[in-house]
Amino acid sequence: MIPNRSSYYLTTPIYYVNDVPHLGTAYTTIAADVMARYRRMSGHDVVFLTGLDEHGQKIEQAATAAGYTPQEWVDKLAPAFKETWEMLGISYDIFMRTTSDEHRRAVQEFARRLYDSGDIYSGSYEGWYCVPDEAYWAPGDLDMEDVGDGKEDAVPNCPDCSRSLQFVREKNWFFRLSNYADFLLQWYADNPQALQPETRRNEILSFIRSGLHDLSISRANVKWGIPLPWTEGTDDAQTMYVWFDALINYLTGIGFGADDEASAAEFAYRWPAQVHYVGKDITRFHCIIWPAMLYAAGLPLPQQVFAHGFLLTKGEKMSKSKGNAKTPRELVERLGVDGYRYYFLRDVVFGSDGSISDEAMVQRFNGDLANDWGNLVSRLFSMVGKYCDEVVPAYVGDPLTEGAEGAVLRDIADGLFEQVEDAYNRFDYSGALKEIWELVRAANRYLEDSAPWGLAKNADSDLEAAARLANVLYSALEAVRTIALFTAPTMPATADEVMSRLELSPATTVVDLQREAQWGQLPAGNKVTKGDPLFQRLDV
Ligand code: MSP
Repeated sequence: MIPNRSSYYLTTPIYYVNDVPHLGTAYTTIAADVMARYRRMSGHDVVFLTGLDEHGQKIEQAATAAGYTPQEWVDKLAPAFKETWEMLGISYDIFMRTTSDEHRRAVQEFARRLYDSGDIYSGSYEGWYCVPDEAYWAPGDLDMEDVGDGKEDAVPNCPDCSRSLQFVREKNWFFRLSNYADFLLQWYADNPQALQPETRRNEILSFIRSGLHDLSISRANVKWGIPLPWTEGTDDAQTMYVWFDALINYLTGIGFGADDEASAAEFAYRWPAQVHYVGKDITRFHCIIWPAMLYAAGLPLPQQVFAHGFLLTKGEKMSKSKGNAKTPRELVERLGVDGYRYYFLRDVVFGSDGSISDEAMVQRFNGDLANDWGNLVSRLFSMVGKYCDEVVPAYVGDPLTEGAEGAVLRDIADGLFEQVEDAYNRFDYSGALKEIWELVRAANRYLEDSAPWGLAKNADSDLEAAARLANVLYSALEAVRTIALFTAPTMPATADEVMSRLELSPATTVVDLQREAQWGQLPAGNKVTKGDPLFQRLDV
């Protein structure tokens, strides 16, 4: 019996394909991956979507500058994402590309619905546009000193990314976003979990209260996009605004817009999503435009959007344009995949901005991983090799009775599931790891305190010492098994390695974590393999 057998659909943003994956995009993706793995291990029927945002002016310009057609360009760049996600152990189920035929169909179907319901009208847009962010900016959002008299003669900078804006004046199609302000305010009042953390919700609420403008959802002069169906083939053909196109990917991936029954059933089962992971810079799109689009189309709204903060280096947002971005590969070469995943989730509180530095990486790696976790495994397994012929000793008595040998570890392990589950429900990755490390540290202390090497000296002649030795080592091994299970979402390869050194099936394939983690299930007689250190200390 698998508990919680229900759909759990989660997504990352789909990334602009014109850049290679960097630490920021990897951060979102790893966090989502850890959640996907955790939910699978607790029995949920998970679908995890990531992918690429391939249309729009920015891509069109980049392709032209590089001497390619946009399609050639995106096809050339897309594999770098898949390779990076593979390197980082990302267990996505769906890799969306917005240039796919299914997506074009889904977007056109969606637009058609809004058009038919009267939510789309033709008008003219005059104002500023940020090409790198693919975002429109209303005069009220801009620094008016920059704007001059509000026309092209003075070019303001983007309030978000600080790059120069472009003045746009064209006939467009508009979505009646302004009609949905009251609905959105009510939605967030009724569903406080729908946007987390709370600081982000407050920002969005005050933005909505300050008044919403209708949104231009088409571009007259951008060729690289999905045609607006009712203009297709006419002299006034327009393409879809890239964010309008991109957001709909969350529907396409699970069957929206396809005309077969299986897809329709899949869509009905999967939608709405449990959570969209986003960075805080793209919450407006996900928490104003997207829910209004869905509501207008008569579709349910996602249960939650979680907006994380920025990674900062030396106090500044890390980004390629600032030249302070390292690539994931450079760090993986140093920390290994699991060390990399661990560092970002343990050291940065998910939801807040977080500074990252080489010093902190080395400290975490050497302290938490090489010393605490890695050392526990290597010294314990070598003791089992020496004192127990490389097999799990049988516990003498019942490890579950009160005050039994190892009860200090058992008591921590018994409370772990609830604490970790609670932390994951709050997206508190760092908190979950901190709880797990209570057990790691307790197990190290326990070995110190019970000194198996002393017990081993007398074990041949003293039955009591022999029994205690078996029970101490069994209990510590049981703690190691528990730690492997709970760290598996964050450090899957290491967890599976430890499980295999205990002759157990992989942690990552568990579907009932709570049950598997119950104390005392490690079978006596299993072979224990010492193996190489799990983490080689880094030089400072
Ligand atoms: N294509 C849009 C998303 C469309 S979703 C329907 C987009 N793409 S992006 O390639 O720019 O990816 C942005 C994601 O990476 C955002 O969630 C953003 O917050 C995240 N990061 C980019 N730099 C970052 C940091 N320095 N730190 C953390 N995350 C940051 O936006």
